[in-house]
Amino acid sequence: MPETLLYEGKAKRVFATDDEAVLLHRYKDDATAYNAQKRGSWKDKGRTNATMSAAMFTYLEANGVPSHFVEQVDETTIKTKKLTMLPVEVVVRNLAAGSLSRLLGFEEGRRLKAPIVELCYKNDALGDPLLNWHHFRELGVSDEDLEFCEELGLRVNGILAPFFDERGVTLVDFKIEVGRDADGQLMLADEISPDTCRFWDKETGERLDKDRFRRDLGGMEEAYAEMLRRVTGRPSAISGQQSAREGDDS
Ligand SMILES: Nc1ncnc2c1ncn2[C@@H]1O[C@H](COP(=O)(O)OP(=O)(O)OP(=O)(O)O)[C@@H](O)[C@H]1O
Ligand SMILES: [Mg+2]
Repeated sequence: MPETLLYEGKAKRVFATDDEAVLLHRYKDDATAYNAQKRGSWKDKGRTNATMSAAMFTYLEANGVPSHFVEQVDETTIKTKKLTMLPVEVVVRNLAAGSLSRLLGFEEGRRLKAPIVELCYKNDALGDPLLNWHHFRELGVSDEDLEFCEELGLRVNGILAPFFDERGVTLVDFKIEVGRDADGQLMLADEISPDTCRFWDKETGERLDKDRFRRDLGGMEEAYAEMLRRVTGRPSAISGQQSAREGDDS
């Protein structure tokens, strides 16, 4: 399939195909944090995030949540519908962490009374600020679209929080994006991976996500591989560690 690079993002390259309605997302090993002030990369990140995103979109679809996902094409590439993206990052939180801890003065790990949905403006130059509905109206985003975003975020959380809990992982928070297809239908888009979610091991509290990179904790490759293993149940990239861990369990 001929590919034309449409967009080079921080974590993925997005390609147009000969089908106008279809995109390819090729996940990179690169990572950025703090609005791209911090940069890094590690082995198998692209492979892990592509495969985990594919698995999560498939699971959500099976649970009644349509998304842009079509199929995984190779280890680092997924095929999706081409959407017109809303300029919104939908953040859903179950425990306080990161910017919510700063916003409310809550210690990290404090369980919230109910999930909190935040709508942020997807704008790197402004640092993706948290906005209210009045701001979004000013930017031309309709109330109906914002309502869809909030409901979708809560639905996804209602499906994914128990999914990860069963796998020994607390879903602390996550970010999703939303886009509209050619028929005007809004749906879940972008990715679901350790780049876009906070995952804490239920037993040890160990961080299994991009906070390892943000906070210079190291062990990113192992943490991402562990998350993929929890999700797919298949051996992770680091098969030696995998069998050692299985041995520990018995
Ligand atoms: N189905 C889709 N159709 C069109 N664009 C999409 C779709 N899914 C995701 N995107 C967009 O493709 C880009 C993915 O690249 P990447 O995640 O690397 O971007 P980015 O530079 O990290 O930007 P950001 O941090 O704001 O997401 C994002 O801009 C995302 O909004
Ligand atoms: Mg992104």
